[in-house]
Amino acid sequence: MDRIRIRGGRPLEGVIDISGAKNSALKVMVAGLLTDERLELENVPALADVATMAQLLAQHGIAVEETGAKRLSVGGAITNTEAPYDIVRKMRASILVLGPLLARTGEARVSLPGGCAIGTRPVDLHLKGLEAMGAEITLDGGYINARAPKGLHGATITFPFVSVGATEQLLLTATLAAGETVLVNAAREPEIGDLAECLNKMGAAISGIGSDRLTIRGVKALHGARHTILPDRIEAGTYACAAAITGGGVLLRGARLHDLGALAATLGEAGVDVTAQAEGVAISRRNGLHGTDAMTEPFPGFVTDMQAQFMTLMAVAEGASMITETIFENRFMHVPELNRMGARINVHGSSAIVRGVPALSGAPVMATDLRASFSLVLAGLAAKGETIVNRVYHLDRGYEAVERKLAACGAEIERLRD
Ligand code: EPZ
Repeated sequence: MDRIRIRGGRPLEGVIDISGAKNSALKVMVAGLLTDERLELENVPALADVATMAQLLAQHGIAVEETGAKRLSVGGAITNTEAPYDIVRKMRASILVLGPLLARTGEARVSLPGGCAIGTRPVDLHLKGLEAMGAEITLDGGYINARAPKGLHGATITFPFVSVGATEQLLLTATLAAGETVLVNAAREPEIGDLAECLNKMGAAISGIGSDRLTIRGVKALHGARHTILPDRIEAGTYACAAAITGGGVLLRGARLHDLGALAATLGEAGVDVTAQAEGVAISRRNGLHGTDAMTEPFPGFVTDMQAQFMTLMAVAEGASMITETIFENRFMHVPELNRMGARINVHGSSAIVRGVPALSGAPVMATDLRASFSLVLAGLAAKGETIVNRVYHLDRGYEAVERKLAACGAEIERLRD
């Protein structure tokens, strides 16, 4: 397994190009199941998760071809309606094929994803929503069996709490259900807007994009389209923390300030300058960092996918911060590793108290999930001495060309291949 070696202490200076958003690309690829015509996608990041989604779609009969740099062409007729455990267990976003397969063919069999490192992550809201649209669902042998012998119909679905995945599942499905579907208390993450815009280009009739109430008028069929994936706000936020923790200044080329939600203001409070520019978002930190509290919330609140990275930043800030995780119950797995590098962080239930220290010290560390892995890279960039981050495959799921992007801004970082 590859590892990453970092020698810390060098301020990052320069320009970092922000890639297309993983969490949009995966969902937009699934939209390829909704038509036999081709979906031409641009600005698709080269990531392990994108390759896994291509593999999943291929075994449903949908070919995913690279047609150039960052370009994919998705298309074909559905030949198989089963999503096997071996793929779903690797990537939870696989669950999103359920509704589209059902809407197109009247049946689907999809492995239950199970828990993961950050929490139990049930899919009950996905299933209840599909049932409200007329699906008959049974569970057996670890699989979801869904049938819609009479087709799917529109429904008004009020989510008891915000779920990105359930909103996407029902949005995709409702495009082909008979009549009107209204999703109330829908997630408002920018990736959902991106998916909805792509679906509308394919002939769907979705309104309320960007709000917490999406209305979808079902159509008989969707057609091919061309769509450019929006920039990855989590990658942008992560590199903003990298610039801040090293006391440097970078331009995040392509990033959009609005998409950072509450993160931008929280970074500002912590002493980081975050400014919108014509080409992207500029980040700089010339003075000290101050301890600042953060609580994760659905968009536009402080995003859970930035919690680990922000915690690393607070680990070297002056004063204390309280970081509260409200979305996933087990998303503090990075804390013991950060503490091994000299951080002073205590977890109490869903909150972590971070007492800033003057410096971290390099160490071999190991991560359990994607964002936690990057929090350790950030710690390594700021630490004295050498840090080795193990299990780099987590990083490769969601960050494109990490070493190249950081090294181009002056970081001393290299991948040690096995
Ligand atoms: C998406 O996961 C993202 N993944 C996650 O990013 C992100 O952390 C999360 O949204 C929140 O923003 C992708 O887009 C591929 P949810 P998702 O449904 O859709 C509970 C990353 O690092 N819930 O909004 O799975 C759930 O357990 C990943 O890129 C139910 O109880 O998240 C969680 O506590 C990690 N029942 C909360 O809702 C359901 O049916 C929010 O989950 C569905 C969800």
